[in-house]
Amino acid sequence: MKIFLDTGDIEGIKRANDTGLLDGVTTNPTHIAKTGRKFQDVVKEICRIVSGPVSVEAMADTSEDLIREAQKAAQIAPNVAVKIPMTVEGLKAVPILEEKEIKCNVTMVFSSTQSYLAMKAGATFVSVVISRLDAVCNEGNILISDAVTIKRNFNFSSNVLGASLKTQNHVLSCLRAGVDIVTVPELLFFQMYKHPLTDIGLAQFANDWENVPK
Ligand code: E4P
Repeated sequence: MKIFLDTGDIEGIKRANDTGLLDGVTTNPTHIAKTGRKFQDVVKEICRIVSGPVSVEAMADTSEDLIREAQKAAQIAPNVAVKIPMTVEGLKAVPILEEKEIKCNVTMVFSSTQSYLAMKAGATFVSVVISRLDAVCNEGNILISDAVTIKRNFNFSSNVLGASLKTQNHVLSCLRAGVDIVTVPELLFFQMYKHPLTDIGLAQFANDWENVPK
């Protein structure tokens, strides 16, 4: 399972990238707005740091406008992937963009039928949103595992991307389901390294090491 960072924060991306375990980045208009910087500048900088795919949102309503916006975004760097909304117009744009070798990340997928349609349209990434669904008393873990089943049942080539993860249990659901990629906030990325028993065990060894004759 690959790990992407879901953020627009350059320093956070550098910290995660330095670990050697980061495979890509996803952004959205909310993340970019928080930087207070120009869209193009932020994306260009992220694409220079990370060699894997960097998803950026195409903001438009019609397929024609989405295609135009996506082509513009794809010119920023070769590793740009374009987030396309889960709408009729969005899915019309997907095969056209994929044909032009622009990778599409269909975003805001909240149902299994949406997952299926996005895969059928040929999207490289299908972003299945977990915590926002959990927040309205639905089960994100079932949605993500169904997306993997749909991919396998019909031999789709799309990558199932677990999005909007907030807890390590969300990561666990994705690992169990066999998703291709998770995109996580920086906090969760580094939480995955930690366990209190690891800290206690390592502190005990460090202490006992002092008593070993050298
Ligand atoms: C991931 O690609 C998106 O940015 C995500 O689905 C939105 O996540 P949020 O629910 O944490 O805002």
